[in-house]
Amino acid sequence: MYRGWICGPLGAVIAHQCPKIHVVVADLNESRIQAWENGTPSFYEPGLNEVLSIVRRRPAPERNLEFVTDVEAAIQQADLIFLCVDTPTKSFGAGQGCAADLSNIQRVARTIAQVSRGEKIIVEKSTIPCGTADMLQDLLSTCGSPDAQFEILSNPEFLAEGTAMENLMLPSRVLIGSAQTERGRRAADELASLYETWVPRDAILRMDTWSSELAKIAANAMLAQRISSINSLSAICEATGASANVDSVSAACGRDPRIGPAMLQGGIGWGGGCFQKDILDLVYIARSLHLDDVAAYWESVVTMNEAQQTRFLQRILACMYGSVTGRPIAVLGFAFKENTSDTKNSPAIAVVRGLLEEGAKVSVYDPKVPSNEIELALGAVDLTHLQICRSPYEACCLADAVVLATGWSQFRTPSIDSAQLDDGILTPPLEMSNFLDWSRILNTMQRPKYVFDGRNLLDGAFLTRLGCRYVRVGSASAWDAGRRRSVGL
Ligand SMILES: NC(=O)c1ccc[n+]([C@@H]2O[C@H](COP(=O)([O-])OP(=O)(O)OC[C@H]3O[C@@H](n4cnc5c(N)ncnc54)[C@H](O)[C@@H]3O)[C@@H](O)[C@H]2O)c1
Repeated sequence: MYRGWICGPLGAVIAHQCPKIHVVVADLNESRIQAWENGTPSFYEPGLNEVLSIVRRRPAPERNLEFVTDVEAAIQQADLIFLCVDTPTKSFGAGQGCAADLSNIQRVARTIAQVSRGEKIIVEKSTIPCGTADMLQDLLSTCGSPDAQFEILSNPEFLAEGTAMENLMLPSRVLIGSAQTERGRRAADELASLYETWVPRDAILRMDTWSSELAKIAANAMLAQRISSINSLSAICEATGASANVDSVSAACGRDPRIGPAMLQGGIGWGGGCFQKDILDLVYIARSLHLDDVAAYWESVVTMNEAQQTRFLQRILACMYGSVTGRPIAVLGFAFKENTSDTKNSPAIAVVRGLLEEGAKVSVYDPKVPSNEIELALGAVDLTHLQICRSPYEACCLADAVVLATGWSQFRTPSIDSAQLDDGILTPPLEMSNFLDWSRILNTMQRPKYVFDGRNLLDGAFLTRLGCRYVRVGSASAWDAGRRRSVGL
């Protein structure tokens, strides 16, 4: 196994669920392997450390999870090899900005071809373009030793960061794509028998490799499309003035069992390492097949996501009298979503960058993203006026506005029903001690105290009573609409 974001959790879960199988996680990167070996992976994922420590506590002869840098030896010893290397969007050459970069997949395949003997099953875990299994079969049988035989399976990973351990332990489905041959089906049986240790048999779906590869990209594209769809409606709600509300639209649509409520909340859009990359790959596949209208359809999902972030930023400017130059603004959350430390394509990047470019003084707080990763993610923008804070209270102190960019549950407001409000002073019951003390935050802010809720997470009525101007995606407050008219923005 090659170690990456998905590979570590996957390796830990297989080792945990299948004590008789020896799992080797291999990567050329020594410091990463060392971190895993020490039980301290470099990212935050709920439940990962618990599973890792159970496996690591097993006494030496029973300990079945290893982290190594000797990739070739790991390949030689393995019967089953999961390829989990990254497949980013190409940043060069043909298909630049759209096609998947398969250079890491190809490099790994060549190493496997060079050092393998006997029969090996190669499992595509990375998300890859349709037809990659056929390409790998050809590459390995052409470049491999005559003593080696390979069978390629597609077994895409559906875990979501933030709920990865739950998704791995209780997957909604496991897809196994194989060649529709006797050997292909036998290899699929072997992989299925591994999963059957903990996954119900009827959750394991078999199909051809092409369908399996396409299904993974399609699933991500459809999830992102739902978010872009509701966000397009949030734009309509805001534009109509004070009455329409995207939360109501979402609730009404979500009650239809054919639609369902998941991924239907208005906000500043999706991020992460997968949605954008996979949709762009789908666009590239469609274009390669001369299906330009199909390509345009899926491309619009990405366009809508970018437009949502731009619109949110413009709304902040419009609300704040047309300029934020020199104004202190706090951004709560930087990860692309809650319960992860991952910042890839995080909507917070566009927000913070945009505010810095407008000349604002931006202070950022995220409970799990380290400061150096925030700076790295912001890239080529002047960071002179960026401050990374250790607490939300530090970030918000003396701020003109607070922008909620990630839906961490600790940023929530308590339910208005259970809180006791008295002249703007909240007395939280004991069980609310995990919520942010918004009263304390607002007391230290500068008037008129804006709160821009990019995740529609907060209780606007509660915050308004505490004395702020609350702005939520997909609904317009009266003063917000009035201000936009008066400044012509
Ligand atoms: N992260 C997710 O939530 C997720 C979910 C489902 C599918 N996927 C897919 O899984 C794949 C991996 O994603 P990730 O998030 O784990 O990526 P990642 O960038 O976190 O990890 C990739 C790893 O591959 C290693 N690697 C690359 N080339 C190598 C080589 N030649 N030899 C040894 N190691 C090599 C890198 O060192 C890195 O550790 C991608 O195709 C992604 O689309 C990711």
